[in-house]
Amino acid sequence: MSIAGRSADQPVRITLAAADDFDGWRDAARDLIEAGTAPERVVWIVEGGVGDLFGGDAPRPPAAPSFSVLRQFVDLAKAVVCHSDPERFGLLYAMLWKLQGNRKAMEDRADPLLDRLERLAKEVRRDAHKMHAFVRFREVEEEDNKTRFVAWFEPEHHIVRREAGFFVRRFANMRWSILTPELSIHWNGTTLTEGPGATKADAPGGDPLEETWKTYYASVFNPARLKVKAMTKEMPKKYWRNMPESALIAPLIAGARAREVEMIDRSAAEAGMAGALEAERRIEPGGNLRAAWEGLLAEARQCTRCDLYKCGTQTVFGEGPLDAAILFVGEQPGDQEDLAGRPFIGPAGQLFDASLQQAGIDRSQTYVTNAVKHFKFEARGKRRIHSKPDAGEIEACRWWQEQERALIKPPLTVALGATAARSLTGKTVTISRAREAPLTLVDGSECWVTVHPSFLLRIPEEDRKAAERARFVEDLRRIKARADELTA
Ligand code: URA
Repeated sequence: MSIAGRSADQPVRITLAAADDFDGWRDAARDLIEAGTAPERVVWIVEGGVGDLFGGDAPRPPAAPSFSVLRQFVDLAKAVVCHSDPERFGLLYAMLWKLQGNRKAMEDRADPLLDRLERLAKEVRRDAHKMHAFVRFREVEEEDNKTRFVAWFEPEHHIVRREAGFFVRRFANMRWSILTPELSIHWNGTTLTEGPGATKADAPGGDPLEETWKTYYASVFNPARLKVKAMTKEMPKKYWRNMPESALIAPLIAGARAREVEMIDRSAAEAGMAGALEAERRIEPGGNLRAAWEGLLAEARQCTRCDLYKCGTQTVFGEGPLDAAILFVGEQPGDQEDLAGRPFIGPAGQLFDASLQQAGIDRSQTYVTNAVKHFKFEARGKRRIHSKPDAGEIEACRWWQEQERALIKPPLTVALGATAARSLTGKTVTISRAREAPLTLVDGSECWVTVHPSFLLRIPEEDRKAAERARFVEDLRRIKARADELTA
């Protein structure tokens, strides 16, 4: 900060070091008050900013405050300084000047100056809130093979330095950078550094971490509070393009009715009102959950999230009790499942049933579904030959699997094969490595990974087939034992 123009008839030019230079403003304001400089004489300039036309300013003399400033005003000033309004420093100084004559000026609700300052502070806090909520990190690998999380964000005001502490506390153990047009901030786990502004092109485009955000967003989405107009106001479209979960907004709105019923059911149960509600609605116990599931099913039947709906006969949704302790996820329906509209009833399903029986699992007590709900095939004459779903199709359909799991909340989910494991974890999973010990899903529940029954059917050598089958049954036994433990 520097001050120029000290004679009584000259304007006093204050040059601040940065657009959010609160310390510089405070020191200059103190000096100006001490010198009895009226607000209308002061010109506030930010170094390097468009107003910085005067150059050659004198260095600032040390501040010697002989007056105290209300805490309330300091808090207001700290926020207002970060606003992009070019008049902010002058407005603050005018308020400080006013406070010298009237200590109660901060209580005057009718004062237009105070009102304007409070509005500016509110806008800054709002922008900060958006930054907390909408910054999305993408994972990048640095030269030293370490991971850095990089986010691009466009604040409306000069809030990046002010909010850096929030991200340091929140992501203390990560290496991260937040790039904005004005400046970039970088955290290496111990030190926060600043760099120049960046462009969106400097930030990476997208990566698997986004799946975590999407899952998180889907799980915190409260359908009963869905107000589309308010939502677009709170989450301006400007931010949507940087946010992976914005892809979820339309389907979340679509699934909201079903989830709302489920929520009402849950809160009624928590409040001990379940009996009254059930009687009123003349439904069997768990009926609301069932209604929610049926709502979901009805929506899934209309699904056009990927092109596979054009391919098969129908959506093959999951089936089974909604209080199941084990939820099995397969790959996609086969030829017979597509025709019947039920999962795992063809050859792979028969092998699955037999293996479950050997492991002592009653299929009718489990929920069975698929990662992809439509049959993907290639037509060869009259035959329809199974074709593997691609990553985009798995991703598009993942939504339904997540909704099924959100309703059922199984303590244990089983991925049958790599497609299911990918759908559940959002990552490529190597079955041989993931087998035998559980993975933790984003909701904290256990996911056990094993082979898909079709894999067993495809093994040509009988002895190997028998060995792999025995191993599959062994996995299922382990899964049963664990489910028993979790539900005991
Ligand atoms: N394979 C699957 O993954 N699911 C089915 O429903 C049938 C075969």
